[in-house]
Amino acid sequence: METEARHDALVNRQELIESGNVPRHIAIIMDGNGRWARQKGLTRAEGHRQGVKALKPIVKECAAIGVDVLTVYAFSTENWSRPQNEIDALMALLVEFLRSETEELKAEGVCIRTIGNISGLPELAQRAIQTAMAATAQQTRMVLNLALNYGGRDEIVRAINRWIQDNRSLTDNVLLTAPAMASYLDTAGLPDPDLLIRSSGEMRISNFLLWQLAYAEIYVTETLWPDFDPAELHKAIHAYQQRVRRFGGLRE
Ligand code: IPE
Ligand code: IPE
Ligand code: MG
Repeated sequence: METEARHDALVNRQELIESGNVPRHIAIIMDGNGRWARQKGLTRAEGHRQGVKALKPIVKECAAIGVDVLTVYAFSTENWSRPQNEIDALMALLVEFLRSETEELKAEGVCIRTIGNISGLPELAQRAIQTAMAATAQQTRMVLNLALNYGGRDEIVRAINRWIQDNRSLTDNVLLTAPAMASYLDTAGLPDPDLLIRSSGEMRISNFLLWQLAYAEIYVTETLWPDFDPAELHKAIHAYQQRVRRFGGLRE
């Protein structure tokens, strides 16, 4: 498969930083927990547990490299179609992650925020999110942005409906603009992702950040999410640093 084997050379954190071209915003589709579990003869829930475990070192490494924003796709608007016991396991893991890791993430200077329709999550999850966000609100080293009950289409529709509400009283024919649209999305105030990483080999976006990924560089690795470690992150950033971004213009 046309993934990134040619960039497999090991690069260390320092080299990535010294290149002077660290992505400001990395977005990750953390996929492959189920396949990882199946390969090991474990339950899907155990795969998700290992997937959550894999996240912390990646968050810390991104902060150490100097990434400003890390957005991770944790639960999509389509994931509700999974069996109820798997959904319950995912929600329990979310609450457990927030309860057990918030203090350490705070100490690392990480500010936790979310995108997605949080009001559609179970009460317990909503409360854990509120607590984690409040506890880390003053942190400025890096934003850890959790995409929960997130779908790109849902986000766009919610944004447009809120914009309509806010502009209803205006008499003249006011039209929605791209900057106004961006300011109504859940990611308002954040830069667009520079690098999208997807683990476990699937070549698709799966309704993630449809607006914001317009010019992101895409990196797909065969590695399953529970096996995705800081060395894998380094490979992805190294591959990004070899790319020529043109944004529709010409290579100089
Ligand atoms: C990603 O792993 C985690 C979530 C979608 C919540 P999957 O559960 O999609 O794993 P695969 O794709 O079945 O291997
Ligand atoms: C995308 O993975 C969603 C998350 C990682 C949370 P999926 O496993 O749900 O995506 P598809 O179904 O393979 O496209
Ligand atoms: Mg999957």
